[in-house]
Order: sequence, then C-alpha cells, then structure tokens
Amino acid sequence: MMVCEFKPGLEGIPAAESSISNVDGQNGILEYRGIRIEDLASQSTFLETAYLLIWGELPKKEELAEFEHEVLYHRRIKYRIRDMMKCFPESGHPMDALQASAAALGLFYSRRDLHNPIYIRDAVVRLLATIPTMVAAFQLMRKGNDPVRPRDDLDYAANFLYMLSEEEPDPLAARIIDVCLILHAEHTMNASTFSARVTASTLTDPYAVVASAVGTLGGTLHGGANEEVIQMLEDIGSMENVRPYVENCLATKAKIMGFGHRVYKVKDPRATILQNLAEQLFAKFGHDKYYDIAQELELIVEEKLGHKGIYPNVDFYSGLVYKKLGIPTDLFTPVFAIARVAGWLAHWKEQLAENRIFRPTQVYNGRQHLPYTPIDQR
Ligand code: ACO
Repeated sequence: MMVCEFKPGLEGIPAAESSISNVDGQNGILEYRGIRIEDLASQSTFLETAYLLIWGELPKKEELAEFEHEVLYHRRIKYRIRDMMKCFPESGHPMDALQASAAALGLFYSRRDLHNPIYIRDAVVRLLATIPTMVAAFQLMRKGNDPVRPRDDLDYAANFLYMLSEEEPDPLAARIIDVCLILHAEHTMNASTFSARVTASTLTDPYAVVASAVGTLGGTLHGGANEEVIQMLEDIGSMENVRPYVENCLATKAKIMGFGHRVYKVKDPRATILQNLAEQLFAKFGHDKYYDIAQELELIVEEKLGHKGIYPNVDFYSGLVYKKLGIPTDLFTPVFAIARVAGWLAHWKEQLAENRIFRPTQVYNGRQHLPYTPIDQR
C-alpha cells in the first residue's frame, strides 16, 4: 500500500472529484457548475440555483415552475414533527434543534431507495421545502408561540421571513435573503460537505446525510464566524476605536473576525455582493453605525494585512445584513444551513453516482503488545 504523509485536517488532500463548484482564490472567482456567483446573485433565485447545483444544468422554464411548485407543496411539516419540536428546550441552540428535526424526517420518509430517481427527487424537494419551516417553527416555539403555516402565495425566501416574524416581508428584504441563500448554497469541499459525503457513502438515507452535515456546520470554526463579527463590531463601538482595536489584535496576535480565508487571497466575491446588499438595506431601512465601523475596519485591515492576502470573507458583511433583517444572532448559522442544504444534496447525488465508502487510514501512535493487568494488580 502507498504510504502518504499525514496531513492534519486532510489539508490539501482531495477527498473527491467534483463538478459542482469551483473557487479561484487568487482571482476571487467562485462558480457553481461553471456559472459566476455574481451572475447567479443578480439574475437567479435560490430555488433555481439549487436546481442547477443538484441536477447540473439551469432548468428550463417549465422545469423550474414544476420544481418550485413541488417545493411549495411540501413546505408543511407533519404535526408529529411539530409536536416533537415542542418538547425541545427553548434554551437549546437552534442548530441542535435543526439537526434533530432533520434526522426525524428520516423516521417518516426513509426508504433508502437510492436507485429510484423518484425517491431522490422527493427527498431533495422535501429537505429544501421543510428545513426553513423547521428553523422558523423552532424560533416561534421557543418564544412560546405556535408556529405559523407556510403561505402559498409567498415565494421561498419571503415565506421563510414571514414564518419567522409572522409579518409579510418587504420585497427588498425578501430578495436580499434569497440572494444570501444563493451565496451560501455551495462552496467546494469543506467540513460539512465532507461530512455529508462520508455519511452518503455508507448508503444511508438523505435525512441522515443532512443531519450529519448540520451537526458539522454548527461548530464555531465553520458556520459561526458571522455571529462573532457582530460581537466584534459592538465591542469596537465607535469609529475612533477601530484603529486601536486592529493594532491591539496585531500586537496580541488575535484574529480579526470576518477576515482571511484558507482559499481566497483577495476579497471574497461573496463579501463584495453582501456589502452591496447591506448598502441597499441601509438605504431603505435606515443607517446602521456598525456598517460605518465595518467599512473603516476593512480599510485599516487592508492597510495592515493586505500584503498577507487577508481581506473580508463571506462572514464579514452577512451578519450585518441578517441583523438588519431582524434575524436573531443564533439563527445566522441555521440560515446558512437552509442555503447549504442545496450544496449538500448536490454532493450526496454526486457521491452516489460513483460511490465508494470512505475508509481512510490512520497513523497509529499508541502503545503496543502490552500484557493485560488483572484489576487487583493495577
Ligand atoms: N486577522 C488577523 N490576522 C490574520 C487573520 C485575521 N482574521 N487571518 C489570518 N491572519 C494572519 C495569520 O495570523 C497569519 O499570520 P503570520 O503569517 O504572521 O503567522 C497569516 O495571516 C496566515 O494566516 P493563517 O491562519 O495561516 O491562514 P489560514 O488560511 O490558516 O486561516 C482562517 C484562514 C481560519 C479563515 C483565518 O483567516 C481566520 O481565523 N479568520 C478569522 C475567522 C473567520 O473569519 N472565519 C470565517 C472564514 S469563512 C468561512 O468559514 C465561511
């Protein structure tokens, strides 16, 4: 057997061949199935982008209409899942609630009929349709309210905002959340996608695949940086404090949240799009002093760290956008999950098409050949 060098975190080791998305980190380019993220953000919708990621091609008009109709039709969750969610502690983290709820779908729908295209399509539709409903239901239930029924006259993003706030959202707010979902739908091989592919490779059901990926996304090293950006901007508090804050971080070697990326060595293209959305939001719904602080921070970090390729990443402006849309901070990562379900399902399908169960090896560094010591002699 070929012996490979051990790389902690499998850094730089390809885990799959994939044709779903591609990043050119030197030039700040992200493409889904070969299409630039800027074009999708300005011209597509989240459901159309999900279709593109999962089936590999942009849908024709009738195909998109049928897909949207199916997703719309499956938005409601079974009352037994709702009742189960009612038993969740209101102090629990919404990502944990989402992981448990996604896994529970498998109790109702799991047949593991993985060779049947109808089963695959049903699972894709059901997961895309119900994950937002479950996120919103937990949000209302933890406040002591009953969840609201999805509204069939609202599109995917508008309906999600409606289910969260019980108010019909402004069309700009709905369009902006839809674009945020497009931006977070897929991002090559990363921890949660790898987790999804490993789970998929055992030929379990897609609900278990998504539940395992949600569990992986929930960690602070993966999905949670935008929450920390908001905390950091609040800690900085004023424009005068930005430069001293950056200098203190550099002196103490602390990371400045929302900056830097393993792959991008220029500004993340998603950060540029999000900044533009933030500006539209503030122009319509009122200025936010934290946006001024964020812009000043970007300038100073570029001055100090630009030579190391440290620029804003996707998390830098997304928190400001979500906050302005009234989304509670601990729902930022569940919103990320709603979007990333599209990418996970695309990788699930791709994994099934050329499946080989993941079975890496290890470098054993423990003791060997010890005698068993009876308990009274230890
Ligand atoms: N603030 C200050 N310095 C930084 C930052 C930052 N945010 N990011 C990197 N650097 C510095 C490092 O200290 C290091 O300096 P050195 O060469 O003097 O030691 C150099 O830049 C290279 O940094 P690495 O940590 O090796 O870069 P890596 O590619 O491993 O890290 C990471 C990328 C983890 C994202 C890092 O930039 C970071 O922790 N950023 C802050 C957290 C964050 O925003 N995470 C969200 C990432 S996007 C996402 O996951 C969806």
